[in-house]
Amino acid sequence: MEKFYITTAIDYVNGAPHIGHAYEKILTDVIYRHFTQRCDNTYFLTGTDEHGIKIQKTSAEKGVSPKEFCDMNAQKFKDAWKALDIDYSQFIRTTDEQHEKVVQKIFKKLVDKGDIYKHAYTGLYCSGCEAFLSEKDLTEDGLCPDHLKKPEVVKEENYFFKLTKYKDAIIKHIKTNPDFIIPSFRANEVINQLENIEDISVSRAKTNVNWGIPVLGDDEQVIYVWIDALSNYITALGYDPEGSSEKFKQFWPATVQVIGKDILKFHSIYWIAILMALELPLPEHILAHGWITIDQTKMSKSLGNVISPTSVMEAFNLDIPDPFRYYMASAAPCGKDGNYSDEDFKEKVNAHLANSMGNLLNRTLSMLVKYFDGDIKPEFLGKNSLKEQALDTVKAVKHHFDYIEIQEAALKINELVDITNKYVTDNAPWTLAKEGQMDKCGEVLTNVLQVMTVISSLIYPYCPNIAKAMAEQLSYDLNTKLDDITCESLNAGHLIDKENIKPVFLRLDSELADKKKN
Ligand code: ME8
Ligand code: MG
Repeated sequence: MEKFYITTAIDYVNGAPHIGHAYEKILTDVIYRHFTQRCDNTYFLTGTDEHGIKIQKTSAEKGVSPKEFCDMNAQKFKDAWKALDIDYSQFIRTTDEQHEKVVQKIFKKLVDKGDIYKHAYTGLYCSGCEAFLSEKDLTEDGLCPDHLKKPEVVKEENYFFKLTKYKDAIIKHIKTNPDFIIPSFRANEVINQLENIEDISVSRAKTNVNWGIPVLGDDEQVIYVWIDALSNYITALGYDPEGSSEKFKQFWPATVQVIGKDILKFHSIYWIAILMALELPLPEHILAHGWITIDQTKMSKSLGNVISPTSVMEAFNLDIPDPFRYYMASAAPCGKDGNYSDEDFKEKVNAHLANSMGNLLNRTLSMLVKYFDGDIKPEFLGKNSLKEQALDTVKAVKHHFDYIEIQEAALKINELVDITNKYVTDNAPWTLAKEGQMDKCGEVLTNVLQVMTVISSLIYPYCPNIAKAMAEQLSYDLNTKLDDITCESLNAGHLIDKENIKPVFLRLDSELADKKKN
C-alpha cells in the first residue's frame, strides 16, 4: 500500500461532542492506526463544521460573536479527541482562512465552468437539517420528519449547482464499484435517491444567513453548507484550483471517508458530483456507519439522554480511554446501529480486556519468573501450532480491516486470546513444573508469550495504551509492521523481573482499581 488517507465527518460546533461523535472518531482512529501498521504514508483528517444559520442563531442567543462561539466549542471537540487518544494528523476548521479562500476559488471555478448558475427559488427550508426539503420529504402534517418542525417557506435568488449533470456518471460509478459504498446494502438506497435528484442550492442570501463564506464578486450571497463543508477534505491537504500542494498530490484521493448514515446522500452524491465537476479523482470508499443509541433509545437533547465521552471516562474513573475505545469500536458491525449501556460496557471490558487478555499476560509472566527467574532458555524456542494460529489471526484481522469489518476483527483477536487461554489450561504449565518437566513447561510459557506479542500488535489500534504496556513487559517492538510479524520476536535471555510485572488493565470497579484511584 503506497498511501492511506482517511477522513471523518466534520462535526457541527453548535454543541459539545457526544458519544455518537466519539464513536465515529474512534472507529476512524482504529482503522487509521491499523493501517499505520501496514503503510508508512498515512494521513488522518478530522475537524469541525462552523458556518451556517444554527451557529449564527445559537451564538446570538448566547450573546457572543459566532467566531468566539466556534472557538469555544471547537476546543471542546479537540479536548475530547485528546482524551480519547484520537491520533489525527490534522484538525481542520471551516473558519480557517486557507479553507475559506480555497472554497471561494472552488465556487468560482464551478461558476466559470457553467456548473453553478443563479436561479430564483421558493423552497421549504428546515433549519434543523440546514437543508431545503421537498414536499414528498415531509410528514402527513407537513413537518420535517427528523425535527418535527414546520419548514419555513424561503423565497430567494440563490446559486444552484448542476447536480443533475452528473447523475448518470454517479450511478455508473456506484454500479461498477460495488465496494465504493460500505456497507454495500446502502448502495441501492443511494441509487434510488439519485433517480429523483434535482439541482441543489449552494448559496443563501446574506440577508438570511450571514455567517458563511462570501461568494467572490457577489456581495449579496454566501456559500452555503455543502460546498463549504465537503470541500474540507481537499482544502485541508492544500488543494487549490490554481495549483495544489505536494501533500494534496500525495494523499488525494481519500482511501476511506467515514461518515454517519444520515449524511451518506451528501457524500455519495453531492460530494462525488463536486469532485467530478472539479475533475478530481474520487475517494475509494465511503463508510457510512450506524447510529449509537443509549439504552436502545436515540440520543437527543429533548430526552436529556445525551452522553459525552468525558462523562463515561469520569463515571468509571478511567485513566486511559482504551476500554471505551474498545467497547465503541466493537459495539456493532460497521454500518449497523450500536448501543451504549453502562452495564454492558463494564461487563464487556472486564471480561475481554481484564479477565481474558490482561490476566493471561500477567499469569504467564508470573510463571516465567516463578519457575525460570524470568529467563527464556534456548530450548524453549521452536515450532508450535499455537503460533501458527496467531499468524493466521494476523491474516484474518488484516482481511477484516480491508473490508472495514472492525467489530469482526476485534472478535478474531478475542478468539485468539481464548484459544491461548485454553492452550494454557490444556497444557497446565504448573503441573508440568510440579512433575519436573521444566523444558516442556518453559516451552508452553514461551509460546504463550510469543503469541502475546502478536496480540499486543493486533489490539494496538483499539487499545494503544494497553498494547504499549503489554509490549513493554514483553520487550517487544510495537512498531513492528504487521507484515513483519513472525511470532518469534522473543529471543533466549532474560525477559522480566518480578517487580516489572503489572496488570495492564484492572477490572472496572475491582478493589484494586478503586484503591489506585483514591
Ligand atoms: O452532520 N451516532 O455534523 P454533525 C453515531 N457537519 N454517529 C452520530 C450520531 C450518533 N448518535 N450523531 C451524529 C454534520 N453522528 C455535518 C457533517 S461533513 C462534510 C459535514 C455523526 O455534528 C453524524 O452521522 O451533525 C456525522 O457523521 C457526525 O457525527 C457529525 O454530525
Ligand atoms: Mg447531524
